[in-house]
This record gives sequence, structure tokens and C-alpha cells, in this order.
Amino acid sequence: MQRLDSPAAMAAWSEARWRGGRIGLVPTMGALHAGHAALMDAVRPRCDHLIVSVFVNPLQFGAGEDLDAYPRTLAADLAVCAAHGVDAVFAPTVMYPPDFGTTVHVAGLTTGLCGASRPTHFDGVTTVVARLFGVCRADIAAFGEKDYQQLAVIRRMVRDLALPVEIVGVPTVREPDGLALSSRNIYLSAAQRARAVSLSGALRAMRDAVGAGTRDVDALRAIGRAALDVDRLDYLEVVDATDLTSVQTVDRPARALVAAFLGDTRLIDNLDVSARR
Ligand code: PAF
Repeated sequence: MQRLDSPAAMAAWSEARWRGGRIGLVPTMGALHAGHAALMDAVRPRCDHLIVSVFVNPLQFGAGEDLDAYPRTLAADLAVCAAHGVDAVFAPTVMYPPDFGTTVHVAGLTTGLCGASRPTHFDGVTTVVARLFGVCRADIAAFGEKDYQQLAVIRRMVRDLALPVEIVGVPTVREPDGLALSSRNIYLSAAQRARAVSLSGALRAMRDAVGAGTRDVDALRAIGRAALDVDRLDYLEVVDATDLTSVQTVDRPARALVAAFLGDTRLIDNLDVSARR
């Protein structure tokens, strides 16, 4: 496994390989866990050369967010990558040219849900992901459904810009009690960790209510809110599973999404709540 620490070195590695096979990419911010490993396992059999990028991207953090505190665990990350058949880890110290002046903005999909409270976040994500696709010459890339809005935004960017990258969405990996794996879970105290499971509990309660016949979204949100044990709710919404527009009735493929704070830690989760026929 090779380690590349500059965009130029990464680009040269990819340039030497892209004609000889398919390049797979798993973009990450490090602090790798089983959710990231699932992304690697999803792409590994579908490519010839697998790259994992590890870069805590300042562009996607807003003022007052956890950029400085974000866990940086490169030695452990390299071990995870080696165990999952990664060919190259791209862990740049500098990602952008000094006079970098481009922002990739996906309109519409980025305004609601997480975009409402983190207005610059998705521009940071799409900008770094577009740059990663270019530097790594990715043919296929995996993103977790845990960041459901991010996945939808990246799919839209790829479609709109006709980028030649296949996007693979990978189901969320959960702790045995249902908590979605997240690099931010390490911020939680034991008491907060115990309450954090209420995010997935609320989503499951909503899914079960749909299964029992409830279709009205206000009623579903009330069921979800009653199951939440958090310090502050950012949002609890049910949206069209594809375009993320609000729905009032679960009469199409639908997704419930939640964002909430336990102390200063903001957690997100989501679940398919489509009615089964
Ligand atoms: O999902 C993440 O970890 C990040 O948003 C990503 C896609 C690696 C871009 O920095």
C-alpha cells in the first residue's frame, strides 16, 4: 500500500494506472470505522486500483464547528486501509493551490435539512469531492447513506457536470443497539452515548408506524419526536427519497432524516420509511 501526501504525487500515481484499469475512490476525513470499511469493501471488487483519501476538509466546516477538534488518527487509518485491500492512501497536508478560486455549488438540494443550519457545508463537500475525482482520476466512488443528503448532492453534481464517475451508495453501518457509526460518536460522554440511540429509535418508530398504516407526515414526526431524547433537535423530516423535497403523505419512496445535538455534538441519521406494498 502506497501513501501519497500531495495532490501532485497522487495525480502521478493515478496517471500511471488509469489506462490499465478502473480506479476506485473512497473519500474520507479519516477517523476510520466499520462504516468506512464497508465503503472500501463495496468498491474493492469493482475496481482494479483502490484509493482512500484522508483529508479533514476545512471548506466544509462552518465558523464555530469542530474543524480543530475533528479526530485525526492517521496511523490507525492506514491499518484499516491495509486490512481492506487499499492500494493507495491519499493523505495530503495541502489539498488546494494557494490561489484556489473555484466553488462547486449544487443548488436546490443543498438548502434544506443540513443545509439550513450549515449553509456553506455542501459547497465545501462538492468542491473537495470534485477535486478528489480529478486528482485521483476516479472511475467509481463510494459514499455512505448515513450522510443521505450528501449522497444525493454528490449524485446531482455528477449528473449535472457529466462527470465520468460511478457513484455507489452504501447502507449505514450501525452499533448493535442501532446507533449509526460516526467519527463524531467519540465526542459523546457515556450518558450522551446512551441517549444518542434515540435518533435511530425515533426513525424506527416512524418506519414501524408507516408499516402499521400511518401515512400522514405530521403524525409520523410527532411519533419520532416523542421517541427522541436529545438536548436540541435541529430537524426531523420526511422527504421524497430522490429529490429530498418535503412530503405530507408517505405515498412514494420516502426517507426520514434527523439531526440533533447531544451537548455540543451534532449527530445525523436517516431511514427508509417508504410504505411497502
Ligand atoms: O463524508 C465525508 O467524510 C466527507 O464529507 C467527504 C465526502 C470525505 C468530503 O470531505
